[in-house]
Amino acid sequence: MKPLKAIRFTKMLLLWMIFSLLPGCQPFNLRLDILDLESPNQVNGIVFFIDKEGQPTYAVFHKDSMVIDTSKMAFTFKHAAPMQKGFQIDSIIEENHRESWEMPWGEQRIVENNYNSALVKLSETQSPYRKLNIYFRAYDDGVAYRFEFPKQEGIDTLIITDEHSQFKLTEDPTVWWIPGDWDIYEHLYTESEFSKINAISKRNHPDLGQTYIPENAVNTPVTMRLQSGVHLAFHEAALLDYAGMTLKVDTTNLSLESELVGSDRLGYKVKRALPFQTPWRSIQIADKATDLIASRLIENLNEPNKIGNVSWFKPKKYMGIWWEMHLGISTWDMEATQDMSTHTQAAKAGVKHGATTANAKKYIDFASKNNITGLLVEGWNTGWNHWIGFEDREGVFDFVTPYADYDLYEVVRYGKEKGVELIMHHETSAAPRTYAQQLDTAFALMKQLDIHAVKTGYVGKIIPKGEYHHGQWMVNHYQKVLETAAANQIAINAHEPIKGTGLRRTYPNEIAREGLRGQEFNAWASDGGNPPEHLPIVAFTRMLAGPIDFTPGVFDIGLPQKPDNQINTTLAQQLALYVVIYSPIQMACDLPENYEHQPAFQFIREVGVDWEQTKILNGEVGDFVTIAREERGTGNWFLGSITDENEREIEIAFDFLEVDKNYEVTVYKDAPNAHFSKNPKAITIEKIKVDYKSKLKFHLAPGGGLAISLITSN
Ligand code: NOJ
Ligand code: CA
Repeated sequence: MKPLKAIRFTKMLLLWMIFSLLPGCQPFNLRLDILDLESPNQVNGIVFFIDKEGQPTYAVFHKDSMVIDTSKMAFTFKHAAPMQKGFQIDSIIEENHRESWEMPWGEQRIVENNYNSALVKLSETQSPYRKLNIYFRAYDDGVAYRFEFPKQEGIDTLIITDEHSQFKLTEDPTVWWIPGDWDIYEHLYTESEFSKINAISKRNHPDLGQTYIPENAVNTPVTMRLQSGVHLAFHEAALLDYAGMTLKVDTTNLSLESELVGSDRLGYKVKRALPFQTPWRSIQIADKATDLIASRLIENLNEPNKIGNVSWFKPKKYMGIWWEMHLGISTWDMEATQDMSTHTQAAKAGVKHGATTANAKKYIDFASKNNITGLLVEGWNTGWNHWIGFEDREGVFDFVTPYADYDLYEVVRYGKEKGVELIMHHETSAAPRTYAQQLDTAFALMKQLDIHAVKTGYVGKIIPKGEYHHGQWMVNHYQKVLETAAANQIAINAHEPIKGTGLRRTYPNEIAREGLRGQEFNAWASDGGNPPEHLPIVAFTRMLAGPIDFTPGVFDIGLPQKPDNQINTTLAQQLALYVVIYSPIQMACDLPENYEHQPAFQFIREVGVDWEQTKILNGEVGDFVTIAREERGTGNWFLGSITDENEREIEIAFDFLEVDKNYEVTVYKDAPNAHFSKNPKAITIEKIKVDYKSKLKFHLAPGGGLAISLITSN
């Protein structure tokens, strides 16, 4: 860390330059006209002022450098003049905040939430004298701000056509980005210089049932590396009753600007009655990439738990009547008329319905013998023969009527007897009005069956036409589902969701979501599946938004059923993902028969899903990452490491282990000749001796990984 004096000096120099440009402003009497907010340890800071045209303006500092150059804030409205210029600062209220809070489940039990904050009250200097407040927070791991439209005379409701929050970069950094798609996050990440971002080139992906990329914009979280090695990740927190934010890219001026997802049906982006607050606009700032993963900024920006004790949800490993459908071995619809794993073709001869009572019992038997306490059954309810490819999907699924060959009550009873709880499945087929109407009956059935988790899905274009998955109307739908579920003691794992914005702190029944290109693409993507660099990018981008239902654990990596596809990782990497990719529900996604008699399956049997603490040991975005996590309640540690297409040596210091404890240590590593495409299943499993003083080197194969279990033995 640079000495404080140097930080202050650089910043003061910059402030002097800014202010010497403002008419009538002397650096000596700046106090009233400027906010200079620093984080508790003073590494990060925000400066806010009103420029000479009266426009709200801010800059962000990290140590002795400016990381966001002077950037503007503005709003445009449907029936009102823009809020942009002609503002003055009426007051600034600064506060310090220090607390720690407990995650009911999570990457760690205790979270420190320390920040300095400011509420800046602004008003227009001329009629109509409108008011706008801005809340700022400076944390040691980043900064954030949000707008508040306070109650004021003459304005009841605002219809926002866009928010223009600018983020001006100070250089042309390396960026890991997905396009600012209004309908789906399931794109591969691209690594490029900021000036080379071209989101338009990602339009019309053949494997996406819904996609709309109107601008050269990116979705968040978007992560960048500056030349100094400092990493910035832009995102939003507490997205409630507002549209999701994409960031429009100005490749010439090296600047981003918020571009909200709109509604073509309603002709605007956000409609709100006053008073209201926008989501937080957040920038995680880290000296090294690994600190981004350790940061809890996004959760800290959210309100504390509002739904009380959620002990009815237990973090768990689960299996699914799921992968077999994606492989085309079985179908979602009972009539077996559709092979949705190829999205269009009719099912092949001999292919049968997956969700039968007998098949569910087979999975339950396997799960209960192997320390797996959940089972997801997809295709259990009527309607699946009217799913992908159908425009008229309203009223098709009712979420309570099982197919004739699936005895829901018997499966639940059998699961209970064996200690396996069902995870319910509600594929809405992107007909949210139908789902909202059915929600009470659907949840009542779950309550009756004592089922406490549901995977929801929103495949397809939203009905009604003109709405997008990430617009305000859908944000409110997802939130209504979350809150209704909480009232019924139900946890939500949403696929095709709205992005995670840390609401799991306020609503800890928001357990996981997809919201990325998941394992399923490996079964059927026309581009050959996720490349080896995908997950080493995801860990530093999408994972900053919260838990991921990635569904790891494919053992039959070659996918014999799918000649054009395979998993582009080694088997050891599939194991490592249980630690690297965080979720309180982790699927063991392969077929039971592919796990039988596999020594490597011992790791999945043992690995934890709920963590006392997490250590990010090493990593670089898009290259590799190693994470160690201590299981809650047992003191066992599990370690996962993954690499991209490049093989590499990593050194691990086991100094995270307790000094006075003994551990039984099993290593699952790539065999010397392992390779993600040529030899993916080659794994070496060995017991080794390790204590807190150990420092060991490991070899990761191309597309490879490493998983280590450290089970306490005293
Ligand atoms: C897409 C989801 O991502 C996948 O997990 C699910 O199996 C299908 N939709 C069906 O709901
Ligand atoms: Ca999906």
